[in-house]
Amino acid sequence: MSIQTIGIIGCGLMGSGIVEVCARSGFNVLVGEMDGELLKAGLARVRKSIERGASRGKISPEEAEATLSRIQGVNSLQEFAAADLVIEAITEHLEPKHRVFRELDAILRPDVIIATNTSSISIAAIAAITRRPDRVLGMHFFNPVPVMQLLELVRSILTSDETLATAQEVGARLGKTTVVAKDSPGFIVNRLLIPYIIDAIKLYEAGLATKEDIDAGVKLGLAHPMGPLTLADLVGLDTTLAVADVLYGEYGEPRFKAPPLLRQMVTAGLLGRKSGRGFYDYK
Ligand code: 3HC
Repeated sequence: MSIQTIGIIGCGLMGSGIVEVCARSGFNVLVGEMDGELLKAGLARVRKSIERGASRGKISPEEAEATLSRIQGVNSLQEFAAADLVIEAITEHLEPKHRVFRELDAILRPDVIIATNTSSISIAAIAAITRRPDRVLGMHFFNPVPVMQLLELVRSILTSDETLATAQEVGARLGKTTVVAKDSPGFIVNRLLIPYIIDAIKLYEAGLATKEDIDAGVKLGLAHPMGPLTLADLVGLDTTLAVADVLYGEYGEPRFKAPPLLRQMVTAGLLGRKSGRGFYDYK
């Protein structure tokens, strides 16, 4: 099936990046949010990022204009009926994902694939609510989406070969390198990343070193682009906590157990870059 229009549900940190990459790759994009204000803020984020690309000479002003013209904000799930593929990028909890998938299943053509950008939740559990579990898979993007090369594809035991092949094709058109993982919480990358971030928070919590030294240690000693506490702030401490909770609930291994400091920071609204303060101050 030829995919021309991609629907994206959620225009937060990840959703807006996915919108940008899809539109820049020539797809028409429909994007929806929970309410008009969130949609406006998400679209403004996309516009700012595209304009920044243009001002840095990465894309021409004409290309930036054409990219923006391919993006349409929508106010209801009904308007996704024209989509050839839908990517859900909403909050990392099963219940709201189920609500969206159940409704989409009734609206979309039967041949349309519904992908989830979940970081950790079982694809089979999400797909179970639909009548098309063979056309449901994980398309897990990385933050910042326009920069990160990877697209992790996750197939459940019911995802068809055809669905996976289509997602691989879309990934290639987006300029991403795809890897394929089985439907096991955390997949490849977050299964490795979350215990690493948790350990860094524990080191900091225990007073072993300053946050700056923990980050500098990893950045300069292991040649990572950023240290683990800076990275947690980039990912969002709420997302990090939600993923850790899913992994701990699933595997029961202490290495996935969120440290008290992480939970306290999220409760206090210190969510990292997106809220202006996390381990570091961004205001
Ligand atoms: N959108 C578009 N472009 C961006 C961007 C954004 N949000 N942020 C940075 N860039 C671009 C810049 O324009 C710049 O491009 P240029 O070199 O062509 O001018 C380039 O990226 C480098 O940016 P900066 O010079 O501003 O800063 P850095 O060199 O420090 O790079 C970084 C920033 C790309 C974020 C880099 O530090 C990095 O790769 N960090 C690690 C990110 C990472 O690990 N992400 C994965 C998180 S895990 C995840 O998302 C999974 C989830 O499920 C939890």
